[in-house]
Amino acid sequence: MRPSTRTVAESGRNRQDPAHRDWSDRLARRTAGEDGSITAILALANAPDVLNFSGGFPAPEMFPTEIVGDLAAGLFRDDAAIAMQYTASQGIESTRAAIADHLSSIDGRRPADDELMITSGGIDAVTLIARSMLDPGDVVAVEEPTYLGAVTGFTGWNAVMRGLPMDEEGLVVAALEELIESGVLPKLIYVIPEYQNPSGRVLSESRRRALIEVCRQHGVLIAEDVAYRELRFAGERLPSLWSMAPDCVVQLGTFSKTFFPGVRMGWAAGPPQVIAQLSVAKQNSDQCAGALGQRLVEAFLRGGHFDDQVSRQRDFYRTRGMAMDAALRRHLPDDVTWTTPTGGFFCWVGIPGVDTEVLAQLARENQVAFVPGAPFFAERVENHFARLSFSRATEAEIDEGIARIAKSIQSLRARRTT
Ligand SMILES: Cc1ncc(COP(=O)(O)O)c(C=O)c1O
Repeated sequence: MRPSTRTVAESGRNRQDPAHRDWSDRLARRTAGEDGSITAILALANAPDVLNFSGGFPAPEMFPTEIVGDLAAGLFRDDAAIAMQYTASQGIESTRAAIADHLSSIDGRRPADDELMITSGGIDAVTLIARSMLDPGDVVAVEEPTYLGAVTGFTGWNAVMRGLPMDEEGLVVAALEELIESGVLPKLIYVIPEYQNPSGRVLSESRRRALIEVCRQHGVLIAEDVAYRELRFAGERLPSLWSMAPDCVVQLGTFSKTFFPGVRMGWAAGPPQVIAQLSVAKQNSDQCAGALGQRLVEAFLRGGHFDDQVSRQRDFYRTRGMAMDAALRRHLPDDVTWTTPTGGFFCWVGIPGVDTEVLAQLARENQVAFVPGAPFFAERVENHFARLSFSRATEAEIDEGIARIAKSIQSLRARRTT
């Protein structure tokens, strides 16, 4: 790699009007190719006057505003010395204890003190892993498709991404074995076992066992992202990878979907050596997750509000997920496929022969927004998928939005045949 120092002569050649300087030649080579896909999704997700199926955003109706208002007032009144102060990089001890108890009730395993840290949401946990584990050129295996934020988090640290196929049971573990047998040993594998973003799929129990066996044998760290797992509205809870193999799994969690994303709170639970290094990485990035958010999460959990909250959410998102499933069935052509959601926020729709980037533009003209599938593929090029989020649209909006997408598909296909 060329050293990044520029000579005075070089900078002189590029002399410009200082008031209108173009900064692009000053960007780090490492980040210059980053394309801001997530920024575009977030911008789209907040666009007014559209039926919005973009963004993995919780419905604002589900924010526990009254409870949080009361808890926050109590913290400002009685707890300012902690809630308004810096904290240790690993997180406030009592908050970690509350999250450890919470994980114990969900996972049947309580992380020890050195196995758990608090992060500033789920994406922070992903980037801390990338920062602590990856040297340039290291291989990271991911499900294909997968969460865009994780792919950009890993490639931001110059990782080489290898995409592994999925089927109805989730990740095809045999493909990981084949990759390893071909001489490529990933340093880590990132998976979303429940209601995967974007496919909505769940990793079956037998695949979970198989994945652990392969990773244990070859020393591959599993990063298990459980962002949506509490939002289950059909089927059984399956044991988490971390509860099955705390020796080789780091669980990355977030309160963004269950509590509210504005609080930016999450956790990482994993082998002590890994957690210690993530804490060092946190010191060198934002130093600590915000104390106010930590104390709010702690008070929310200790106040016994979490179970009520997720049970309200499950009912709420089940209704919307089923409405989207029904609308897709009602309006879309017979050759279109999708996953009927059993939890989470997403339907992943395959539309044969349609470039969904083009479809998204056309749908946008008809005041409907969704995310085209191509950026969710780390390696393969697939452009006929779309991710539709049902979390923020009402049942009526879902029906109308899907009908408009169906019309857009029809007119695209008609263009092709004329
Ligand atoms: C699978 C997955 N992991 C992590 C995140 C990020 O969580 P947070 O908003 O807490 O950073 C998201 C957000 O959409 C997600 O879909």
